Amino acid sequence: MDRGLPDDSTVKAALALAVRAPSVHNAQPWRWRIGGRSIHLYLDYARTLTATDPDQRDLVLSCGTALHHLRIAFAALGWSAVVHRLPNPADPNHLAAVELVRHRPTSLDVALNAAISRRQTDRRHYSSWPIPHGYLGLVAERAATLGAIVTRASDRPREVLAETIRTAAARHTRDLEYHFELPNWSGRHSSDDAVPARNAFRVRQRDELPAREFAAPASADGAHEPDYAELLVISTSADDRLSRLRAGEAISAVLLTATNIGLAACLLTEPLELADLRRRVRHEVLDDLAQPQAILRVGWLPTSALSLPITPRRSVADVLDPFESAAAS
Ligand SMILES: Cc1cc2nc3c(=O)[nH]c(=O)nc-3n(C[C@H](O)[C@H](O)[C@H](O)COP(=O)(O)O)c2cc1C
Repeated sequence: MDRGLPDDSTVKAALALAVRAPSVHNAQPWRWRIGGRSIHLYLDYARTLTATDPDQRDLVLSCGTALHHLRIAFAALGWSAVVHRLPNPADPNHLAAVELVRHRPTSLDVALNAAISRRQTDRRHYSSWPIPHGYLGLVAERAATLGAIVTRASDRPREVLAETIRTAAARHTRDLEYHFELPNWSGRHSSDDAVPARNAFRVRQRDELPAREFAAPASADGAHEPDYAELLVISTSADDRLSRLRAGEAISAVLLTATNIGLAACLLTEPLELADLRRRVRHEVLDDLAQPQAILRVGWLPTSALSLPITPRRSVADVLDPFESAAAS
């Protein structure tokens, strides 16, 4: 059959890779439903981070990363996804309906699919080796196919970004509601729903680009050397739900491309969660030409860097709605 759902084991294999997608605080705010002819992605409203992400930007971005991971996984398994984004105007949490068409995997599908299991958020410092322009160009090209713009911030725009990152970190330190929320999603006793302590690093005051400080970080810091990370801003021309979903897909494309090249990366969204700092990034870094969706640190790890533990995920069974499958087709 050329069109229709593949067998159950192929669908489960693709979903198992989709749930490896990055998400804010590892909240994994997605639910999947399998219909007769399509697979449906829903935003799980119960996993909203009220204090961290009041306008749900990061939540929708996270679902976008999972949608792109799903597409890549299916492509490598021989199925091309036809995606209907926000298919139900009456339900804004119904983010996508995915139909599948038989397809011959390309070498790019295979390479990006292999990157899914290797990709990790790496909050450590990166080395001083420069990133060739061609690599950053490739990353930007892949994001552009999904409607997003990747801007490399250097000189004054980089200073502005660094200032907003530090200001956001300082404000979050004083924000009681933010701190009340954090231990639910990170720390020593964290489960499959959170950022484990062993993948969080204690922030040092003199860091130019402080990483988000999660609860009970296990490590004193990520590195003894200075951080030479490049800063990229991922933006879109509009800022509605559809733009955020597509930005999330572009973030996934950027991260998988970077992983495939061998680059380490870490998303930084703290300044964009605070309205005035977001406006400042839009104005002073993007000249009011685009809407910032995420900031990315990217660079090469020192050769001496040890491998990081994998951040766990909820199982596919935990995020699949079996009883709803008949309703959504
Ligand atoms: C929209 C979004 C925003 C994120 N913001 C941050 C951030 O500000 N700081 C950070 O250290 N990690 C951030 N992350 C990374 C998540 O913490 C990470 O994806 C999650 O813990 C799972 O770990 P993994 O990426 O290693 O699989 C973000 C991820 C997404 C998708």
